[in-house]
Amino acid sequence: MDWKNKIAVITGASSGIGAATARKLAAEGLQVVLVARRLERLKDLTAGIIQRGGQAHIITSDLTQDKDRARVFDHVVEKIGNVDVLVNNAGFGWYGYSAEMPWQTAREMLQVNLEAVVQLSLSFLAKMRARNSGHIINIGSISGSLPSQGVALYGATKSFLDNFTTALHRELTGTRVHVSVVRAGPVKTEFGKAAILHENGLHVPTEKMGVTAEAVANSIWGLMRRPRRLIYVPDWLRIVPWVELSFGWLIDRLGPLLLKRQKSARI
Ligand SMILES: NC(=O)c1ccc[n+]([C@@H]2O[C@H](COP(=O)([O-])OP(=O)(O)OC[C@H]3O[C@@H](n4cnc5c(N)ncnc54)[C@H](OP(=O)(O)O)[C@@H]3O)[C@@H](O)[C@H]2O)c1
Repeated sequence: MDWKNKIAVITGASSGIGAATARKLAAEGLQVVLVARRLERLKDLTAGIIQRGGQAHIITSDLTQDKDRARVFDHVVEKIGNVDVLVNNAGFGWYGYSAEMPWQTAREMLQVNLEAVVQLSLSFLAKMRARNSGHIINIGSISGSLPSQGVALYGATKSFLDNFTTALHRELTGTRVHVSVVRAGPVKTEFGKAAILHENGLHVPTEKMGVTAEAVANSIWGLMRRPRRLIYVPDWLRIVPWVELSFGWLIDRLGPLLLKRQKSARI
């Protein structure tokens, strides 16, 4: 497929995986549509892309809001063109005991990690089906297949993405519209810092461990060129569902100790 001038909408493009994906896809010749709340970040990213000869559009949007998501869809369709790739990447986590999780944080997590993915996917999917062309890529997590203490709701949102993606993938069999989920392990981004901004949130030390956001962006690019239902980043993490099946009983005993230690260290 010739990707030159194709259009990719990337949510959560202001940092981490989304920003790296925007840079990568723009470098490969796609027009990227950058969606997030922080305008200054999006402007800086756009300036860098344009300097390297790429094309980028900005849509500031708070994806907790139904009307903001609808505005993203309308703006793209009316002012930019047919979307070839939608990367549902925006999302955030919260680490701690669920009994201490404020409902406001939980609700926002459901709105960004789930509702926004569903609303944008259904909107763009109808257009992609009509053209019989397109690819929706959902950024999931290994937390979706390894229920873990401290990230109960976050992991559940990512399980939802796994299920939703698989079902859509099956519905779309025989068409040229693809849906994929990227089950990422820890990635060095601002994810940990963002998690602690919410009330009672403990630090998730992801910015110090795992793969780079660029590695995830390269995998997304590989997925676009060879669509599959599911990829792991890094690939060896495909053992995770097997770990849960075989050693869930051990995680039941050891997992809570890790959370207890993190909580008492208050990091
Ligand atoms: N880092 C990891 O270890 C890891 C592992 C597996 C999966 N993931 C997933 O990867 C995705 C990207 O995370 P990241 O690691 O790149 O973290 P990040 O650097 O914190 O980026 C998160 C992005 O989501 C956007 N976002 C958050 N709330 C939003 C809202 N209400 N409206 C619009 N945009 C919003 C942020 O933009 P604004 O703040 O500017 O709005 C930001 O661009 C998430 O879905 C995350 O669950 C991350």
